[in-house]
Amino acid sequence: MSARDAQPRAIQLKDYQPPEYLIDQTHLTIDLEDHNTRVTGTLKLRRNPDISGGEAELTLHGQEIKLISVAIDGKPLDKDQYRLDDEGLTLRNPPEQFELETVGEIDPKNNTALDGLYKSRNLYCTQCEAEGFRKITWYLDRPDVMSEFTTTIVADKKRFPTLLSNGNLIEQGDAEKGRHFATWHDPFKKPAYLFAVVAGDLEHIEDKFVTQSGREVTLRIFVEGKDIDKCDHAMLSLKNAMRWDEDTYGREYDLDIFMVVAVDDFNMGAMENKGLNIFNTSCVLAKQETTTDAGFQRVESVVAHEYFHNWSGNRVTCRDWFQLSLKEGFTVYRDATFSADMGSPTVKRVEDVSVLRTAQFSEDDGPMAHPVRPDSYIEISNFYTLTIYIKGCEIVRMLANLLGPELFRKGTDLYFDRHDGEAVTTEDFVAALEDASGRDLTQFKNWYSQAGTPRLEVTDHYDEAAGEYHLTIKQSCPPTPESDTKKPFHIPVAMGLLGSAGSLPLKLKGEEPNPETGDNTHQVLELTEPEQTFVFEGLPEKPVPSLLRDFSAPVKLKYDYSRDDLMLLMSQDSDGFCRWDASQQLAAQVIDDVMAAYNRGEDLGSVEIDQRLIDAYRRLLQDESLDKAMVALMLSLPSEAYLGEQADEIQVEAIHHSREAVRVALAKALAEDLRPIYQQYDHSKPYKPSADDIADRSLKNMALGYLMLLNEPAIIEACEQQYRDANNMTDALSALTQLVESTAPEAQAKREWALADFYERWEDEPLVVDQWLRVQSTTKQSDALEKVRALEKHPAFDRNNPNKIRALVAAFANANAINFHVPSGEGYGFLADHILRLNRTNPQIAARLLTPLTRWRKYPEEQRKQMHLQLERIKAEPKLSKDVYEVVSKSLA
Ligand code: TRP
Ligand code: ZN
Repeated sequence: MSARDAQPRAIQLKDYQPPEYLIDQTHLTIDLEDHNTRVTGTLKLRRNPDISGGEAELTLHGQEIKLISVAIDGKPLDKDQYRLDDEGLTLRNPPEQFELETVGEIDPKNNTALDGLYKSRNLYCTQCEAEGFRKITWYLDRPDVMSEFTTTIVADKKRFPTLLSNGNLIEQGDAEKGRHFATWHDPFKKPAYLFAVVAGDLEHIEDKFVTQSGREVTLRIFVEGKDIDKCDHAMLSLKNAMRWDEDTYGREYDLDIFMVVAVDDFNMGAMENKGLNIFNTSCVLAKQETTTDAGFQRVESVVAHEYFHNWSGNRVTCRDWFQLSLKEGFTVYRDATFSADMGSPTVKRVEDVSVLRTAQFSEDDGPMAHPVRPDSYIEISNFYTLTIYIKGCEIVRMLANLLGPELFRKGTDLYFDRHDGEAVTTEDFVAALEDASGRDLTQFKNWYSQAGTPRLEVTDHYDEAAGEYHLTIKQSCPPTPESDTKKPFHIPVAMGLLGSAGSLPLKLKGEEPNPETGDNTHQVLELTEPEQTFVFEGLPEKPVPSLLRDFSAPVKLKYDYSRDDLMLLMSQDSDGFCRWDASQQLAAQVIDDVMAAYNRGEDLGSVEIDQRLIDAYRRLLQDESLDKAMVALMLSLPSEAYLGEQADEIQVEAIHHSREAVRVALAKALAEDLRPIYQQYDHSKPYKPSADDIADRSLKNMALGYLMLLNEPAIIEACEQQYRDANNMTDALSALTQLVESTAPEAQAKREWALADFYERWEDEPLVVDQWLRVQSTTKQSDALEKVRALEKHPAFDRNNPNKIRALVAAFANANAINFHVPSGEGYGFLADHILRLNRTNPQIAARLLTPLTRWRKYPEEQRKQMHLQLERIKAEPKLSKDVYEVVSKSLA
């Protein structure tokens, strides 16, 4: 912003114009120094032949670069031939075709925003998505300008032996004053956001992959020497992902080398730069002693995600940033399907839907709600949201299910072939699927243009005499910032009907029996109208509907199930997702009972809960035929976040105390079923991060979690033993967490001991220290905020490292409701202090930290006022970054 109070301008999709110039060739020389890195850019520009007319000026993006010189076709420009401002470099009357040479200087060491070229410990690296390239050199920094890059990196040879960029290494050698250089050439045209360089002292592991057409690809993972023993899982995941993409989508890798680099300071999870993916260490390093099962799975899915971008994102890229979900939604769908194939599909689905229904639904219900293809933004970095990523994934999933596997594959083949080397839109994606399948997806596209979570209200009646069952579904969608009124969505509702003895055959009145699958107990209803009734015939008894199987659409469905219905679904439904969902609904109803008691002021100390939940849980525990991971998930009560999202007003204390009371009641009632699960587990068995073993551990640790609520000395002892003896981080961390959360007096001393012991043991492993911080920032013990404030001053905390901020500050604000929302407002003040500080040093992270405060309207008055106060305080800051300005101003609007 130039003027002090000027408001940043919103960018609109409707203003999109193709670029006036194209850049055929990009040559960069980057001479690395901490404070004055010299970047020489040589660009071969030519007027875009598809554009008629044309301006007399051409503006190249550029920010925070000191101009040393600028020349066109070798002739330095006079002062009146260009203009330099905050946005970039404007050339007056540029030729139709020319070579532009700019020399600029940048300061990577002071780049705390981690956007552009920056230093992470002793490593130089880049992050260019979305608009970081303009902080490196003057450029047409927009994804529809694609160029062939040749990059020379120059650096001190001793300190930076490893010099990497995209593509193939074509030359390297020594330079003067103990320096050396490497030149890389990337034969594939790409937008600037996929550019990367890395310079450091790195070690690597190497493997190879032979593609389906027989080409040999070198695979390398680069890390600091101390982490070289933590790369194997990422390498295995990469090879699995490469094979899977060939088998599932027919997509083959295209360069001779694929590189992954791990860095400590990174704003997000990882970045798909062409041939040179850069990863947050948290998404690439894994070994059993330091990494939890969830950590192993995260590495597998992020490695796959970034690899899959090579086709969905790089070969076919986005026309503009409004199309972000074109690559992100599709790539999340691809990685989710991959993970499902590598492990347990139902477990993966339940985990993903849990995130969607808590965090994404909540985003869709708040002031930052936006369509999967937004119409406007102020700062694009704020739009790397759950809506773009995971609602976008749900949209692709619906498309895949509507088309079926063969036609969907035909559609994606057409999409990749038709648009290879192009920058396209979500419309182009849908058009390819339409053309390949012959289906009309016009109405379906409302999913891209309308924000908000659709509501489905389902009612039914059974006509005994006719043997008919009438199912009526009404859809609606609440207003969101972009529109108050919504057109009806095209919603696939996968369903079945259950009778007392299990699945019933489905026959829609007046239609032939279900064609495709041959499975006559499963059907996908396509909802296109505001209200539709489906009539099933030939039913001898009143059925219980099993709805939204496998969560077939990202909607909130309301049907008035009795608790007996839910028990039937839990034990009889053929759909694993619906069995789990029934368990959640039953548990939510029981928690609701207790909340009513809490609100009447009753003592929850020995509250009685509905025996049906106990019976249902016991049945799960006794059924040896069930997937243990599913049992663990079904026995975990709905999260506080989910319960809050479901309510009109979030009563933090009532939710927390009621949910805890139900947990204690369940622990007491089921103790004798849980004990053997814990006791029979063989803690000495060798660690494997396989789906089966992960399932075993999750069930055993779930049992420990309940048993610890009994406050029995013998169990506390066993928990401490597990902490001491664990041969893997999952078991160690689970035991540590249980000791920290225990309210038993005996656990007090053990807790302090274990926390100190854990830190001492792992202080040199930053990712393990993050876990240690997280255990303390998310503890439900009432001194959490005090502890978190003390940890801010601990040497383990680094206020400039995003992982540390996420572990201590974001985890406290997002995953510790009872302590973050203390009525005094102290928790909010603590968060706002960090936001104001990061506003100056790392605006992307600052804006992300605002999320919990954006939900202020959902809380009771006292909390609402305090949250509002902190938002106003942030808004009053004189030098607000665009990132923070956008979120704060939209939240208060
Ligand atoms: N495109 C990356 C991915 O999802 C994520 C990404 C976008 C990113 N912007 C970033 C990563 C900024 C780090 C910093 O795969
Ligand atoms: Zn991505």
